[in-house]
Amino acid sequence: MAVRLFEFLSSLSGALDLMSPEVVGHHKRVAYVAARLGKLLGASREERTELFMAALLHDVGGFSRQSRLAALSFETDGGRHAELGYRLLRTNPLLESTAVIVRHHHTAHSRLSSFDEPERKLFLAGVLNLADRVDALTCRQEKKDPAQVMSRLGQRAGELFDPLALEALGQFVGDPEFWAQLAGEDPTSALSGDTGLFQEHGMSRAQLMQASTAFSQIIDFRSRFTATHSRGVAETAVCLAEKAGLSANDQTAMRLAGDLHDLGKLAVPTEIIDKPGPLDADELAVMRRHPELGEAILASVPGLGRVATWASQHHEQPGGQGYPRRISGSELSLGSRIMTVADVFTALREDRPYRAGLTTNKVMRILGDLARNAALDPELVSLATRHQDELDQRRRQAQATAAEEFHQFYSGLPAL
Ligand SMILES: [Fe+2]
Ligand SMILES: [Fe+2]
Ligand SMILES: [Fe+2]
Repeated sequence: MAVRLFEFLSSLSGALDLMSPEVVGHHKRVAYVAARLGKLLGASREERTELFMAALLHDVGGFSRQSRLAALSFETDGGRHAELGYRLLRTNPLLESTAVIVRHHHTAHSRLSSFDEPERKLFLAGVLNLADRVDALTCRQEKKDPAQVMSRLGQRAGELFDPLALEALGQFVGDPEFWAQLAGEDPTSALSGDTGLFQEHGMSRAQLMQASTAFSQIIDFRSRFTATHSRGVAETAVCLAEKAGLSANDQTAMRLAGDLHDLGKLAVPTEIIDKPGPLDADELAVMRRHPELGEAILASVPGLGRVATWASQHHEQPGGQGYPRRISGSELSLGSRIMTVADVFTALREDRPYRAGLTTNKVMRILGDLARNAALDPELVSLATRHQDELDQRRRQAQATAAEEFHQFYSGLPAL
């Protein structure tokens, strides 16, 4: 699988904006502004890469719709979502260089020097802060007014914002071309000629796994009810793929599909995910859009075609009674059918707010019933039954690891 880091992050950053129409495109616009500022401010190639990646992910810790909207108001302390973002990124070898930048993207310029962090990271955080505020000020304006933007930001020069960064902004804020690019579907594509930023090769397998793990946490850690779900599904799916004789490459794709199968749930506010009672019809409709939303994003990443298909069909059923497309029979690829079995198996073994996880034997009986009703592939269910102990042991181990990471993630943080 040849997947490039920027293409992966850039597409998946779009998933972070699905939660609310008010923030659509926010991450890419901020990344574009930050990249322009970083270049003018003489940041090194490495620094600009870190800044760009940090910008693509900067509000990743804003789990609820409410926190996202709050982050878009001009005066925001943003402390909690910046801290959660930092915690999500700092443990991932691929993304750790962005963690401190994200942590301080709402820290006032005048306070930055009081933190015991590398000076250049804090400088980049200041650049990200300014880029973020440019979009917060203008994203809902029909007609952009550069003079007003500069005067509003300029009033807080030295206090909230780095005067040097403001000066750099002043160099292009009046250029209509800048605003035209910012209004485009993907402003970061305007940076593609910026070779200092985009000289990158495809990700190694290890890097791809790291990116995949990061997003499984982003998807799962939003709610304690789903905290380890994707990792359990991924491990179960890989184990089944192995037993079904899929190639090593396909097994890698299967792990990605498992980690990312609920990507579209980033569009579902935590207010719905954590709702203690049954969902009403509108909430259910929001929830049921997640496979399609996830597919649109994954399919836009060059190299992830199979992953997009397998991930997005995890609620389809061989008998055609699944959703969203009611695909049936041989039109459902083996990978998709594996994903469905892995999803149901994992979900039934997990504790839910309204019931404890079922025993493996009970789960296998339910899978058998589902296979007889054409809701699951019978051959895969019998394969799973033959290997049920290994399957469950590996799932349990993967979820125990994810649970430990989840615990670390929230430790020492005040509850909301
Ligand atoms: Fe933010
Ligand atoms: Fe933001
Ligand atoms: Fe799902």
